Amino acid sequence: MTYAKVSLTLVVLSLVAAFTAAIFALDSVDAARSAQDKQRSPATEPMAHEAASTAVGGVQSYAGATPAGNPDTIAASQAPFPAELPPLHAGRVLPVRITLKDVTVPIAPGVRYRAWGFDGGAPGPVVHVRQGQTVRITLTNGGAIPHSIDFHAARIAPNVAFRDVEPGKSITYSFRANDPGVFVYHCGTKPVLAHIANGMYGAIVVDPAKPLPPSHHQYVLVASEWYLDSPGTSEPASLDMTKARLMMPDWVTFNGYAGQYKAHPLEADPGHLVRFYVANAGPSLVTAFHVVGTIFSRVYPEGDMTHPLTGVQTSDVPAGGGAVFEVKIDQPGLYPFVNHSFASVDMGQVGILNVGDVEGTASH
Ligand code: CU
Ligand code: CU
Repeated sequence: MTYAKVSLTLVVLSLVAAFTAAIFALDSVDAARSAQDKQRSPATEPMAHEAASTAVGGVQSYAGATPAGNPDTIAASQAPFPAELPPLHAGRVLPVRITLKDVTVPIAPGVRYRAWGFDGGAPGPVVHVRQGQTVRITLTNGGAIPHSIDFHAARIAPNVAFRDVEPGKSITYSFRANDPGVFVYHCGTKPVLAHIANGMYGAIVVDPAKPLPPSHHQYVLVASEWYLDSPGTSEPASLDMTKARLMMPDWVTFNGYAGQYKAHPLEADPGHLVRFYVANAGPSLVTAFHVVGTIFSRVYPEGDMTHPLTGVQTSDVPAGGGAVFEVKIDQPGLYPFVNHSFASVDMGQVGILNVGDVEGTASH
């Protein structure tokens, strides 16, 4: 074989090898794509919103995925969680009896979730006491696995008071509410991430011994995230623990249901003081609380009733924290209240304060 023939043969062989490699590469790209496609469509439920097809790093998002039909109409037919602060209890001791149940709850228009609910819902009931009153809590576990209840308003040994309660059993403990503010309570059973993400949370408001100035409306908002393993539109969804760890929620809510106070706005009169008690159950995200079109006349950060800030546009409520916000709005209109971390608004954490009973469509 001449030198030229050897060279030609080598060139031809190289081309064949390169072509074969390219074919294999294309094959493996196809294989990866089809695996990804399979991962992307674990459910065949109809989804009206195109955000439902988002996948990030192989993690499927169901953010905004609602069934066919008008989500606003569905939300309007859903009774909202009562946001009004319940009245104070007259006695020295407030007995609070909560039963934990495994329940399916609506969390967004046409979306249902298999939750663990204090008193049958998420959030659980709002507890309201005056500083110095005693809360006697009885938790009965009507669920299938151990649970517990951790009150952030208590100064108490958690290994004793917040211990696990076996299914069918109860626990009772008391604490004196010595610290005014708005606090979360939640299940503290491991993994706490899963128990909070499954709906085990609520709020307790402790009025200061010297009452705050009177307000015409007092609203309690419990912020939280939902992490879904399916769209939850034809079958109820359950927890996706990977998404909870990655802090990639599908829905982010005030009082457990996306946009419920857009469908059922909270009300105020022009010039009247409105007080929001915002407790953030998390489990993981921060709530940057803001009311569009106004400025908080006072914010009690971290629920500290003794050192309010004045003239605040937005204030963070950390996961596991609470803060009190006051607005006095003179001009009638529709004032959205939001988590100004706007990904959360997109996932449902927005409501409307209707000042002066006006008609119309809100800006946000
Ligand atoms: Cu639990
Ligand atoms: Cu906690």
